[in-house]
Amino acid sequence: MKNSHTIFSDFPYFAHGGDYNPDQWMHRYPEVLEEDLRLMNLANCNTFSLGIFSWMDYEPREDEFHFDWMRKILDNLHGQGSQVVLATPSGSKPAWLSKAYPEVCRVNEQGLRAHHHRRHNHCMTSPVYREKVAILNQKLAKEFGDHPAVKMWHLSNEYGGECHCDLCHRAFQDWLKNRYETLDELNHAWWSYFWSHRIGDWSEIDPRDESVDGMRLDWRRFVSHQTLDFMKAEIAALRAGTATQPVTTNMMGFYQGLDYWRFAEVVDVISDDAYPQWKNTAQDLNTAALLGCVHDMHRSMKQGKPWMLIESCPDAPQWQGTARLKRPGVYRNEMLQAVAHGADAIMYFQWRKGRGGSEKFHGAVVDHEGSENTRVFKQVSELGSTLQKLAPIVGTSTKSEVAVIMDWDSRWALECSQGPLIIKGENQYLTPILKSHRGFWENGVSTDVLESLGDFSGYRMVIAPQLYLLKPGVAERLRRFVEDGGTLVLTYLSGVVGESNLCLREGFPGGGLRKLCGVWAEEIDYLYEGETQEIDFLPGNTLELKGRWQTGRTCERVHAEGAEILATFTHDFYAGSPALTCNAVGKGSVYYLAASMDTAFWKAFSQSLISNAKLSRILETELPEGVHIRERGDENKTYIFIQNFNNHSVEIDLGNLTGRCMETGLSVQGRLKLKGWHSRVLCKKRHSLPEE
Ligand code: GAL
Repeated sequence: MKNSHTIFSDFPYFAHGGDYNPDQWMHRYPEVLEEDLRLMNLANCNTFSLGIFSWMDYEPREDEFHFDWMRKILDNLHGQGSQVVLATPSGSKPAWLSKAYPEVCRVNEQGLRAHHHRRHNHCMTSPVYREKVAILNQKLAKEFGDHPAVKMWHLSNEYGGECHCDLCHRAFQDWLKNRYETLDELNHAWWSYFWSHRIGDWSEIDPRDESVDGMRLDWRRFVSHQTLDFMKAEIAALRAGTATQPVTTNMMGFYQGLDYWRFAEVVDVISDDAYPQWKNTAQDLNTAALLGCVHDMHRSMKQGKPWMLIESCPDAPQWQGTARLKRPGVYRNEMLQAVAHGADAIMYFQWRKGRGGSEKFHGAVVDHEGSENTRVFKQVSELGSTLQKLAPIVGTSTKSEVAVIMDWDSRWALECSQGPLIIKGENQYLTPILKSHRGFWENGVSTDVLESLGDFSGYRMVIAPQLYLLKPGVAERLRRFVEDGGTLVLTYLSGVVGESNLCLREGFPGGGLRKLCGVWAEEIDYLYEGETQEIDFLPGNTLELKGRWQTGRTCERVHAEGAEILATFTHDFYAGSPALTCNAVGKGSVYYLAASMDTAFWKAFSQSLISNAKLSRILETELPEGVHIRERGDENKTYIFIQNFNNHSVEIDLGNLTGRCMETGLSVQGRLKLKGWHSRVLCKKRHSLPEE
């Protein structure tokens, strides 16, 4: 297991709480703040994010600052033992700022500057905005940097979006000068000879020209870079104000617009917001699988250190259209799943429903009715007491032997290209990542999610679906990983373009992957909806997989160039050509899958890969569908989470697993019955230690 690490120093408990907005109440309902303190205790909550949207209360007029109101709230929270994640309020600006300095408002693709409205819509480049944020952040750090309640800083809120003002376009041009140095290099990287789009002067560059795919990719990189730069400036201002606490920012799962790998390098603690929609249909298993994958990514971002589920909803979010209440068990399972995947903080949006504003109907711990007598409040309080029983888990981590690769650059490059055809739900970048991750999840194997620049050492298997854009050095590092005994799985649409979205020329998968895989993917066939293709396993293949499996709509016509053929296509003019191959390289092997496949295939495929490579499974027995098992631990103990995401009861054969239920203290072994949407967390001592 990796080193033990707690998110909050001297706090060996789960953080439990959420976004607290006393500034919505203090002006006219000060008694509510008193009542909140009482309710927080009853809800077993101990950690609150404050001041996320408080700019107007800190600075109601330019250069007029008020901090005493926040000090009082911090004192009160500290007085009752709560800790605070204090925000920088840059996510929503006051109207006086937009009025005095229109440049802080974003400009859209049509060139129209937004009026003052909503939030999360400031220009990341505007020097005025940066200056105003820096002044306020520095003052906040000076005022509250040594307040005993303040344990962490919450940078802004859900950074995202883009702006097309002149300042941003000019900053893009400067960023490009730095990247390419000469226009000749830039024109080559963008292949802008096409349609006579060659750039003659840096000032001609306009990122809205979607026909230059290399430029579109660079624009996305720039937007991510500029947002990161803005975040770094926020941190610098806090540090200039001598704040020393760790910083975090709330990510949004697999949000498409920012390369979170780069953000993860800069923040001290990883935080995520998750608002899954549970529908009481088979779809829920996809939702649980998606969450499992995104949670694994957040745990992997800091090499296994615990992360924070900093926003979630204890009930129904109003913006989801159909605001279906979370049925009994659903909320608890959702939160425990985050813990199972490494979260040490369970926090909600929001503590209390406001009386007005667009989120007045958003689920909250405290309802408009205001008491502790609601179903949701009681559930939160019960989860809080469960988390107290689970406290020994805090700081523990998960050791995975498998890593799945997820790169924003590949995703962007694929999306910015007109073709290879993106078929919705088929070869969209995330689809095969989710399916392959799910295969291992369903087989009870711990999995990390890394970027292709991540460190593969320490893993035994790397799955890199649609590694479309190959970054420099990645093919060589993958080769070394395999030569040293690792198993690598690549799929269709790998090694297609280099860093600037220019197609590689030596045959796909390019950039050195062709030799590594021992295959050449000559052509790619996109089938019409309703058309079918199949793959058939050859008798005696190394994976011992059998039978025929239907493909999705993406199939490659591949030649084996040294790789062993495990399965072939069955239909059409390329019947008999390889569909799945395995190439032995050094002490390891490289699999190449030439077709998009469904989750059932990925489950069987990963099961074979697992037994072939003798990877360790958390439970050796077969799990019923919809039941998932995860583990965390340290050198002394292992904590095993068994979760039923079905609406119905299941019985699980625990094989030789025995443990103590962390809630009841009773020993559990043999066959475990779990009702629909129920979980059990077991604790077992490591083998080397005597059983209790
Ligand atoms: C998040 C946001 C919160 C709140 C929440 C509602 O995206 O960070 O401030 O709006 O959504 O679900």
